[in-house]
Amino acid sequence: MKEIKGKKIVLGISGSIAAYKAVVLTRLLVKAGAEVQVLMTPAATKFVQPLTFATLSKRPVFTEVTAGEAWNNHVELGLWADAMLVAPATANTLARLANGICDNIISAVYLSARCPVFVAPAMDVDMWHHPSTQRNIDLLATYGNHLIPVGNGELASGLVGEGRLAEPEHIVDYLGRFFGKSQLLKGQKILITAGPTYEGIDPVRFIGNRSSGKMGVALAQAILQQGGEVILVLGPSALKPEGEGLQLIRVESAQEMYDAAVSAFPDCQAGIMAAAVADYRPVNMATEKIKKSDDRMTIELVKNPDIAAQLGRQKQTHQRLIGFALETTQGEANAKSKLARKNLDFIVLNSLQDSGAGFGVDTNKVSIFSSDNKVYHFELKTKDAVAQDIVATTLLDIKSKD
Ligand code: C5P
Repeated sequence: MKEIKGKKIVLGISGSIAAYKAVVLTRLLVKAGAEVQVLMTPAATKFVQPLTFATLSKRPVFTEVTAGEAWNNHVELGLWADAMLVAPATANTLARLANGICDNIISAVYLSARCPVFVAPAMDVDMWHHPSTQRNIDLLATYGNHLIPVGNGELASGLVGEGRLAEPEHIVDYLGRFFGKSQLLKGQKILITAGPTYEGIDPVRFIGNRSSGKMGVALAQAILQQGGEVILVLGPSALKPEGEGLQLIRVESAQEMYDAAVSAFPDCQAGIMAAAVADYRPVNMATEKIKKSDDRMTIELVKNPDIAAQLGRQKQTHQRLIGFALETTQGEANAKSKLARKNLDFIVLNSLQDSGAGFGVDTNKVSIFSSDNKVYHFELKTKDAVAQDIVATTLLDIKSKD
């Protein structure tokens, strides 16, 4: 299968009788041209010998975070992989992954992975339908993981119902469709502005804001995952994004961000304005540290250039422009008026009403309005999952599922 050829896949096998199906799965992935690194929980090794997987994958199998004196580098594996697949994922493994319990090699690699993660559960029908399991499944989906549906039929216990591991052919097909789709932005270059800006008052002080840059960086990763290139103009943020196809331009002030964005935009198919740009800057930046003197002091401010509005003016018909709105009142009306005023194609409205949405946190809740009057509402999700929704809705013309 050409979509899987050359892909690096970490395959985590946990302790279910369905581990025998992972033998066929490994064989199919290797046959499709993937490099497969198998990880097993100690329980999984009771069902199938690691040697079977080592022979099929032509790589040593890791069953522990440490191997004798050596350390199986889970961080390195998490970064190496193009995809992580956990199949079969037992109820116990789902609970570990959903709750970040890092007590074996699979969960350690899972927590370190930056690639898409696919989970194929396998268990008995009542374990599958138990609210604890279903809650863990829901949690994993909110982290942006891909759940491969369980099969229905006869189970090892003799009971009949849902909980069977998806067939290996079906799992490989699922991955193939994902990788096939994931090249939808190949050949496209997208400009993103992200993070806060710092407006100097004197050499040590500035006017800034609490933006972390997380949303913009998540957008960059979502675009890279789709095979696109990204020029990320990032204000002062603690994040250190990297990835193949990413050009990072670090800036500090709104004027620097403006200059970088205006010069990069003509080469790009789209711009996403996710930065929290300071609206004003001090008229003059003092060259020496300002001394404490009077009880009151005044700093005169002047308006910064509006980057989104400028790109809206210079936008060509083949280009798209996407802005963000963070409103405390009349969100929809204000967002729509910004959409028109800045000549945007889409505007993403952040809900400030919901706890967990907005600056600094890892989750966000958004609605997207388009210039042709369409509206898309989304649930509270991780910023990674929100980024995928934004990319699907604004760049891929896919209305993604809530
Ligand atoms: O007008 P307001 O600041 O609310 O608009 C928000 C949108 O405009 C965001 O997409 C933000 O990145 C962009 N913006 C900009 N340059 C500015 C101010 C806002 O690009 N100076």
